[in-house]
Amino acid sequence: MSKIYAIIVAAGKGERMLSNISKQFLLLSGKPILLYSLELFDSLDEIEAIVLVVASEDFSFVRNNLLLSGNLKKKVQIVQGGSNRQQSVLNGLTALDDDADFVMIHDGARPLISRQVVLNIISESLDHDALAVGVPVKDTIKIVDSQNFVVSTPKREELWIIQTPQMFRREVIFEAHVKAMSDGFIGTDDCILVERLGHNVKMIKGSYHNIKITTPEDLVIAQELINNKGVIE
Ligand code: CTP
Ligand code: MG
Repeated sequence: MSKIYAIIVAAGKGERMLSNISKQFLLLSGKPILLYSLELFDSLDEIEAIVLVVASEDFSFVRNNLLLSGNLKKKVQIVQGGSNRQQSVLNGLTALDDDADFVMIHDGARPLISRQVVLNIISESLDHDALAVGVPVKDTIKIVDSQNFVVSTPKREELWIIQTPQMFRREVIFEAHVKAMSDGFIGTDDCILVERLGHNVKMIKGSYHNIKITTPEDLVIAQELINNKGVIE
């Protein structure tokens, strides 16, 4: 049986949220945002253990408060974050146990990831080096230049919004992160780091509800989605 570990990155400052408290600790229905994904991965038999990447100033709150309030069963290893998301993921990858075959990397700022979507990505993982959850775009997307003139209009049916989790063979994503660092390449997700080494990435269709909590209006939308849980895909 291959061993799957989860890395949850939650070491960001949440600057666009404009809140005193880091956004991953804000409450939705009385529960900290970060606890939603922690509890989901904790509840899955397929996941061996969780590596939780947080800022060093949040270590004591996470250890003495958040993890205890969550009543979690699995081992949660706390790792210090880096100055950007990519560095935080690399810190998590470096901390993984040697027996990890696959790693599932998830943003702590995406509390509405559904159990079924996580199971879907796991069920396809044996056939691929890299997989990512996403959804087809609903809007038409334009490429725009620095003067705000439209350069081109990509075909909508070829465009997807990329989300997390993104799942990889451990050695593939580790090599890709080390290579990116030595090249000075910073990507906006983890897949791009394996794409640039020529690996195929399999998209797994997820849910439009799996939003990343980024700005204050996302909190309102997420709360509304939770209130109407019956309609969550
Ligand atoms: N993240 C991280 N370490 C960083 C930056 C981001 O672990 N140095 C995490 C965030 O905590 C979040 C995820 O990466 O779970 C996605 O990042 P983003 O939504 O950009 O969060 P923040 O960087 O915290 O927000 P902002 O960019 O508005 O400051
Ligand atoms: Mg950020």
